[in-house]
Amino acid sequence: MIKKILSSRLRVGMFVDHIDRGWLDNPFFKNQFEITSIKQIDRFREYGIQEVYIDTSRGLDVRENTPDWEETSSVDAPSAGASEDLLGDGDHEGSGFGKTGRVYAASYQATRKLMNDVRLGKLVDAMEITNTVENLIGQILNDQETIIGLSKLQDYDDYTYTHSLNVCIFCLAVGRALGYSKEKLADLGVGALIHDFGKMLVPLKILNKPGKLTPGEFGIMKEHVTRGVNYIKQLSGISPRAIQVAYQHHERYNGGGYPLGLKGEEISEFGKIAAVVDVYDAITSDRVYHLGMIPNKALQKIFEWRYQDFDSRLVEMFIKIVGIYPLGSLVLLNDGSVAMVVEGNPHNSVLPKVLLLFEKSGKLMDEPEVLDLSTHASLRIQQSVEPRVFEIDIKKTWDKWGTFQIKGPTLAVQS
Ligand SMILES: [Fe+2]
Repeated sequence: MIKKILSSRLRVGMFVDHIDRGWLDNPFFKNQFEITSIKQIDRFREYGIQEVYIDTSRGLDVRENTPDWEETSSVDAPSAGASEDLLGDGDHEGSGFGKTGRVYAASYQATRKLMNDVRLGKLVDAMEITNTVENLIGQILNDQETIIGLSKLQDYDDYTYTHSLNVCIFCLAVGRALGYSKEKLADLGVGALIHDFGKMLVPLKILNKPGKLTPGEFGIMKEHVTRGVNYIKQLSGISPRAIQVAYQHHERYNGGGYPLGLKGEEISEFGKIAAVVDVYDAITSDRVYHLGMIPNKALQKIFEWRYQDFDSRLVEMFIKIVGIYPLGSLVLLNDGSVAMVVEGNPHNSVLPKVLLLFEKSGKLMDEPEVLDLSTHASLRIQQSVEPRVFEIDIKKTWDKWGTFQIKGPTLAVQS
């Protein structure tokens, strides 16, 4: 079947049937070809090709659970104004996560639209930013653990948008832990959501370069901070302290950051929070040039860097918030079985509820069981493990079992 999809959904193994472009604007020699490398996918971005037609009978299809607002079912679908249609209007359900999933999905779309408008040189409406942040604050106050876990589980490919959204979610959680008023929380959230607006003003070729940036390119990339701040200052209704998030998120406690090389207490609390959160989301995300670290390893790294780069008090607070084993983490238990964390334990973070996926023999369980580690004295988490090692798609597993099992009764286990 021929399907029209956003080029951001392309992956190696898909077969391109055609691109709606004249050959002069088409960077590829052939009209029909198989995607064999990430470099090819990158060329779609470099050339600003947003949509592509794939033939699913000759190559891979889009992943299951692809949001339906990102693809159309056949070539008969109207192509005029397709970009607008493909951006959708906020009705993606955020599969498997109920209301929290819907808030995340709507916020993702809002962020994506805002950032695309920045790229197009439009001045965005600050109210759209505020509304998105207010929805997220509601979610943070209502069910922080789920939205934090979900922020790293969602299967949206475009880092630029998910990063902005995740940084906002994590910043709000830290602000809440610091006892911020709603007003202060809103300013922090707004600043976090727009902290990388300047990236949309960096040439795509540099922004999406799969390899290491040259010193010259890195210099241009660093300019995203000042470009972003200059853009944000043109918007009415963004407070000065929100702007500080964008201005200071790359400053480092020891003065080694940019653009100003501020040190220690010269950096605002908003800037210091954003610095920790920005690095955490960056190193836990899959990028073209590296695979994301598991949360546990990333938190260890951040902890190692706590004095040189960050405010150590905020690092410790952040680690407590994310938890050593966030929702969706895969863990090895001391009896050799492997499980996924499905519910935190506010009284003892090392004893969460887990979903048993692999028996000690290594066999995948037919009907995974939920275990409450706080009620099983002999069972303990030994370490976090990489989902890739077990070829587990955490998102799919969560969709299938996580929420269902949490709602249902916890099963007893023989130990
Ligand atoms: Fe940045």
